[in-house]
Amino acid sequence: MPPSTTSSEAKSRPLINLAIFASGSGSNAQKILEYFSGHQGIRVGLVISNKADAGVLQRAEKFSVPALCIPGSKWRDPENILPALKRSEIDVIVLAGFLLLIPAFLLQHYKNRILNIHPALLPDFGGKGMYGSHVHKAVKEAGVTITGMTIHLIDEEYDRGEILFQAETRIDKSDTPEDIAAKVLKLEHKYFPAVIEDFCLRELKG
Ligand code: GRF
Repeated sequence: MPPSTTSSEAKSRPLINLAIFASGSGSNAQKILEYFSGHQGIRVGLVISNKADAGVLQRAEKFSVPALCIPGSKWRDPENILPALKRSEIDVIVLAGFLLLIPAFLLQHYKNRILNIHPALLPDFGGKGMYGSHVHKAVKEAGVTITGMTIHLIDEEYDRGEILFQAETRIDKSDTPEDIAAKVLKLEHKYFPAVIEDFCLRELKG
């Protein structure tokens, strides 16, 4: 069977560059780095954290991806953020456990190009203060039997942008918030990279 693209076609397509923003250990970032390492059309071009000791910075280093720490106090000034993204020719920003509010200038600059992952089925258990273990505790207290994860575009309101993908998991009566978190994280690792890939190829390759 002939290849679907010739090598000259493949070469003429520019790469899509992702930036990952993360505040913590970055287990999702790790899955994304693994998935796109050696990818033909998409690569991770930059990792940014607001925390100097975030595990995600070391993870980026292992993949030879440039990594920057930009402390929270610097996020108000576009000059501290936009030149770094421009230098790495970033097309899409992926928030993988990033705990700062994305400033308006960035939302404008990357309109419909910023993806976030949320560890519950939005619009439930979202909004201000709903992050990390707070989400899973609230889910447990509400006594629901299904939870999951949501991948969505971000806009001016917390956890309100267009939903791109959701996946569900069952909650057993005996599950603690930690058990629920582990089930949800498993879904995140399974689906996040492929949803990013799908979004990029659909929205940016025309
Ligand atoms: C994930 O549960 C994600 O949904 C949330 O933050 C967590 C990040 O975990 N936004 P990790 O740093 O990728 O392990």
